[in-house]
Amino acid sequence: MTGRLAGKIALITGVGGGMGVAAAHRFAAEGARVVGCDLDAERAALTEKAVRAAGGEITVMGGVDLGDPEAARAWVDAAVATYDGIDVLYNNASTQRFGSIEELGVEGWDFTMRNELDLVFYTVRAAWPHLKAYGGGSIVNVGSIAGMRGVEFMPQNAHSAAKGGVIALTLQLVVEGGPHGIRANVVSPGMTETPNTAPLLADPPERMRRVVLDRIPLGRHGQAADVVSAALFLASDESSWISGANLVVDGGASVLG
Ligand SMILES: NC(=O)c1ccc[n+]([C@@H]2O[C@H](COP(=O)([O-])OP(=O)(O)OC[C@H]3O[C@@H](n4cnc5c(N)ncnc54)[C@H](O)[C@@H]3O)[C@@H](O)[C@H]2O)c1
Repeated sequence: MTGRLAGKIALITGVGGGMGVAAAHRFAAEGARVVGCDLDAERAALTEKAVRAAGGEITVMGGVDLGDPEAARAWVDAAVATYDGIDVLYNNASTQRFGSIEELGVEGWDFTMRNELDLVFYTVRAAWPHLKAYGGGSIVNVGSIAGMRGVEFMPQNAHSAAKGGVIALTLQLVVEGGPHGIRANVVSPGMTETPNTAPLLADPPERMRRVVLDRIPLGRHGQAADVVSAALFLASDESSWISGANLVVDGGASVLG
């Protein structure tokens, strides 16, 4: 088997969504045996079918709500059993509510924490004993530049707090995981085109163009492949002495004040 993930068993969450689809394809193309999941059973099945059609090795479970700790544990246990092991846990799935401090409300805040931060804790907690038992592995969590700075073009207090939490949690996983050979890193995307964001990016509001899109030093918004390439590096043995990195994938935007 060849490829940058040859022989690795990679668990990827949210493979029904924009970056998750790209990740499932790329990881499988690089030789990984992928076990994916998504809340959306239909889109999960489509990804499984497409990756297999391209010659990749993948098993996907649909209808998995990772915001439920028992469901997260059941998926991780089933995933580990599928190929008898685990090398990579790529926490890509998330969903959130946007709203200003005055508008969001407790329900929106709780929903966002559940589906952006809690689910990462649940999958990591479930995977941890397996990672230890198999001699370590790589955890790749998806943060966001929203977790590192204020964002002007839309209110995202809960999203930012949750992603900031993902970044901080990862730092602690580095410390606890090191002695077991477990690495943990973050990929933090900037504005990236996916099926969800494509309509917005095709016809962006003036303010978004001015404060976001016109201020990307590399002159374009991101593609899912840009983010997945960074995650691939952190998942692979090429990064075997890297733990605790927060790899920002934003065309250089976050260096601007
Ligand atoms: N698109 C961007 O511009 C951007 C920017 C910064 C960070 N991100 C982050 O990148 C990651 C992928 O983003 P995307 O744009 O591909 O998102 P997306 O919405 O297209 O896909 C996310 C997938 O996660 C699944 N999901 C959500 N909650 C779940 C749950 N509780 N259990 C199981 N599955 C669940 C959804 O069903 C969906 O298929 C996310 O963590 C997101 O926050 C995206």
